[in-house]
Amino acid sequence: MVEKLLMGTSNRDKVRELREILAGLPWEICSLADLAPVPEPEEAGATFEENALLKARYYASHFSMACVADDSGLEVDALGGAPGVRSARYAGEGCSYSDNNEKLLDALAEMSWPERLARFVCCAAFAAQDGSTHVVRGTVEGRIAAESFGENGFGYDPVFVPSGHECTFAEMSAREKHAISHRGRAFRELRAWLETRS
Ligand code: IMP
Repeated sequence: MVEKLLMGTSNRDKVRELREILAGLPWEICSLADLAPVPEPEEAGATFEENALLKARYYASHFSMACVADDSGLEVDALGGAPGVRSARYAGEGCSYSDNNEKLLDALAEMSWPERLARFVCCAAFAAQDGSTHVVRGTVEGRIAAESFGENGFGYDPVFVPSGHECTFAEMSAREKHAISHRGRAFRELRAWLETRS
């Protein structure tokens, strides 16, 4: 019998992307949208790894099936690694993506180009019903632009210029972004691990 693998995220963009990356594995991929609604777990961990594991374990145990989940965010060197695990709520609870970008651009207003180093981080976790887990980390290095550019993507994409490129993630196509993105890297590695396990 083909085992089910749940994608533990209610973010539609992530679901679409994960379906593409995990396609062809000998697992039946399903998403939270296919199941009875359940409250999201509180992301109380101090690290991306802890939060990714916490989500994967929570949904695996609630639905009694193997689950993959991720946690991601932006680390800015000049801000001591902030916003980090608080990336979604950097400008306060319930804030918008543009509130976060505005706060970030203000915080770095006096910084020169070499001082604007940053990276996106994504930790992807797998949790099985038997309690076994596996976590991987993907990163992409870059710099924070002086202002927003581009309309694609989401979150901090309009202010993030990946190393070796002269445009932001929001100026790239989804395919270009995910060939080098933190999430693309983490989930391709998790996929390779799942292949060895199945
Ligand atoms: P989470 O992994 O859904 O908790 O995402 C945390 C936050 O990190 C998001 O709300 C975004 O602000 C930011 N973030 C994570 N990945 C990306 C990305 O690929 N582009 C832009 N922002 C991102």
